[in-house]
Amino acid sequence: MIIAVGPFTQIVTMDGLAHHGHLNDEDLVVLKDAGLLIGEGKILAVGSWKEIHSQADEIQEVESPAVLLPGFVDSHTHICYAGSRAHEYAMRLNGATYAQISQKGGGILETVRATRNASLEELEQSLKARTQHLIQQGITTCEVKSGYGLTIKDEIKMLQAIQQVRKSQPVDLIATCLAAHIKPPEFESTTDYIQFLEHSLLPLLQKQNLSKRIDIFVDEQAFTVEEAKSFLQRAKSLGFSLVIHADQFSRGGAKLAAEVQALSADHLECSTDEDAEALRQGNVIPIVLPGASLGLGLPFTPAHLLLDHDLPLVIASDWNPGSAPMGQLLNQAAVLGMAEKLTMAETLAAITMRAARALELYDRGILAPDMRADAIAFPTTDYREILYCQGRLTPHSVWIKGEKI
Ligand code: NIG
Ligand code: FE
Repeated sequence: MIIAVGPFTQIVTMDGLAHHGHLNDEDLVVLKDAGLLIGEGKILAVGSWKEIHSQADEIQEVESPAVLLPGFVDSHTHICYAGSRAHEYAMRLNGATYAQISQKGGGILETVRATRNASLEELEQSLKARTQHLIQQGITTCEVKSGYGLTIKDEIKMLQAIQQVRKSQPVDLIATCLAAHIKPPEFESTTDYIQFLEHSLLPLLQKQNLSKRIDIFVDEQAFTVEEAKSFLQRAKSLGFSLVIHADQFSRGGAKLAAEVQALSADHLECSTDEDAEALRQGNVIPIVLPGASLGLGLPFTPAHLLLDHDLPLVIASDWNPGSAPMGQLLNQAAVLGMAEKLTMAETLAAITMRAARALELYDRGILAPDMRADAIAFPTTDYREILYCQGRLTPHSVWIKGEKI
C-alpha cells in the first residue's frame, strides 16, 4: 500500500546539508505545498502535493496548517531510572554544588539506590511513560543509557528494560551501557571497579547483545583519563562504539575521545579551542547538552566555537533525574541557539540529521527517498516559528516508520 501524506504548507527536508561545520538558513530545502509518499515504512518520494497524491493508493490528509520536519533524534539521555532528586535540586538552589552533593553520597548514587530497588517491570513502566513525552515533543529516536545499576545484575536489568520498552512502543530506543558512571560503594577504588567492568561486564555484554555502545564519565568526580583509556581500548577491541561524558566539570575527556577514536564526546562545557581542535582531528562528534547547564545553573557549552572548528554539532537533552530533569529537547536547543548564535539550520541539523549520525543511524534525520518515514508536523505555516516559539509549539502529528502515532 502506497500512502500520500499531505498537503504540507512547508516540508523542511534537511536533505543535502553538510554533515559538519556552519550552515546557513538559505541552505535549507523548504518545499511549499508538498507531500510525502510512503510505502512499507519508508519514504518513496518527497515533492509537490499535486504529483505525490496522484501516485498513491490512499490519501492521508493532514490537519492544516502544517510544517513537516524529520522526526527529532535525542542522542543522549538517561531516562531509564527510578526515584526523584527534587530534594537535591532544592539543595543546589540553596548553594550546594553537584560535586558536593555527590561527595556526600547523593547525586548519581542516590538514583543508583532507587534503581537497584526497582523491579524490571517498574523500570519498564516508568521508561515507557517517558517515551510518551518524547512522542509529544516529536522525538522519534532516543538514545537511553544504563548507569544507575553499577552491578552486573542491575546494569543488565536496565538494559533489558530498555530492550523491552523498545519493542512495546513506537519510539526507537538505542541503548548505551554506562556502567562506568561512578564508582559504586562496594568497590574500594575506581581502578578496581574499572578492572571488574573490563573483565566481567564487557565480555558478557558482547554475548548478550543488549548494547553496542559503551559510555564512561571522565571527570574528577568519576574516572581518570588513564582509567578510562584502558577501559575504552578494551571495549573497542571487543567491537563496541565508544562515547564519553567529557569535559563537563574538568578537562581531559575530549582529548581522550580523539585519542581512542570515540564516536562522540558529550557535554564539553569546559572545553577550549584546543579541545575542539583535537575533536576535529580525531573525527569525534561533539554532543552538547544545554539541559545539564539549565539543570545545574552553569554556563552553556561553547557550541558556536565547535562549529567554527568545522565540527558536526549535535544537541541532546541529557534528560536524567539529577543534572538535567527538564527533558525538553526542542526548548533547550532553541535556547542554546539564541545564547550561542546558532543559525536555525545549525540547530535543526543538530537534532535531526547530525544527531542520527551520532548514533550511527544513516536511515533517518532527513526526509528523502529510502529514509525511514519518521516525520513530525507542526501547526504553523513558517518553519521559523518552531525555534522562535522556543518549545511552546509542539507537533500535532507524528509518524514513525510511516505509521501515524
Ligand atoms: O550527563 N555527569 C554525569 N552524568 C549525568 C548526570 C547523571 C545524574 O546526575 O544522575 C550527566 O549530566
Ligand atoms: Fe549524560
